[in-house]
Amino acid sequence: MAQQSKFIRTLKGEKQAIPPIWFMRQAGRYLPEYRKLRTEAGSFLDLCYNPAMASEVTLQPVRRYDLDAAILFADILLIPQAMGQSLSFAEGEGPILDPVITAENIDRFRSRDIHETLAPVYETVKLTRAALPDDKALIGFAGAPWTVATYMLNGRSSRDPAALRKLYYEDRPFLTALIDMLADHTIDYLNRQIDAGADAVQLFDTWAGGLPWPVLDAVSVRPLQKIAAGVKAAHPETPIILFPKGVGETASEYAQLTECDGLGIDYAMDPAWARANLSGHTVIQGGLDPISVISGGEAMVRGASTYLKLFHDVPYVFNLGHGFSPETPPEHVGALVEYVRGGNW
Ligand code: CP3
Repeated sequence: MAQQSKFIRTLKGEKQAIPPIWFMRQAGRYLPEYRKLRTEAGSFLDLCYNPAMASEVTLQPVRRYDLDAAILFADILLIPQAMGQSLSFAEGEGPILDPVITAENIDRFRSRDIHETLAPVYETVKLTRAALPDDKALIGFAGAPWTVATYMLNGRSSRDPAALRKLYYEDRPFLTALIDMLADHTIDYLNRQIDAGADAVQLFDTWAGGLPWPVLDAVSVRPLQKIAAGVKAAHPETPIILFPKGVGETASEYAQLTECDGLGIDYAMDPAWARANLSGHTVIQGGLDPISVISGGEAMVRGASTYLKLFHDVPYVFNLGHGFSPETPPEHVGALVEYVRGGNW
């Protein structure tokens, strides 16, 4: 068997002198080579469902920056689309899903074979794994049920996603049915990504912030634990990373889930608190404010140095505290990688 990559070894608890590096939204509009292929593909979704092109876009940032991991190029909203909601991305508006899901129409979404629609994604994983050197990992991913549900329930990005918790009080059976359905699909989806060649998987709970504890536990912590258990049952050796954004100190609930190997911290989390309270339970990933990479220079380096120093004596994965935005100068990303790899923090 090929030797495991540095990224996978780190998630299994091995400390590194220089941490492995990858970035959320490392493939995307900030890269000219991405914009070129996206234009050729026609649209973002055409790109997602074209395995040869999606695989190429997945590889672009790894090639440009020699990163330790590639992340599958796809989107968390492909599952709702595969379930039968139409999905489009309006320029400057973000995603639009139609019709919104309700207690009245949920049964219509139940019986679909999502894997028919999602087959090209598994093909992208296969092509990408075959093209990557052994020392680079391939990360598969999915959205967490709560985050995906906010889009399904609202039809677009919600300005106040936490307001959807009203359903928890007013129609809990419907909310639970939706979250459970998403959790079951997500288990299958991630297991198929791993079967196709993904070396690790990450679950994005972008809209977990702002929920009171019993609601957060019901819609985020427990569903993520269920998904992790379902993935581990089929693939006990594949690391699972959670990224519950904006949850503050309740991050310790996620860190203590035994099925999870890594925890992404967001830019608002105090890294010293995370080092003291979370590192003993899980491998911490990320934290750096992506906006500091737009600024570049001293501010970016000072930010990176904080994380590198705090986490130098534990296994740690270098990353951001959320994804890059399109205005990130590619050369700042290059300078950041060089700084981390230089080791003079
Ligand atoms: O490089 C990577 O990180 C891999 C690919 C990836 C994308 N989306 C590609 C993408 C991943 C892991 C995601 C996850 C995702 N998608 C999340 C969770 C992480 C996060 O960012 O909080 C969410 C909430 C989505 C939903 C989504 N997709 C929105 C709200 C948008 C529109 C906003 C925007 O930036 O335009 C997308 C579109 C999207 N997903 C783009 C990319 C590269 C931009 C598409 C384009 O116009 O080319």
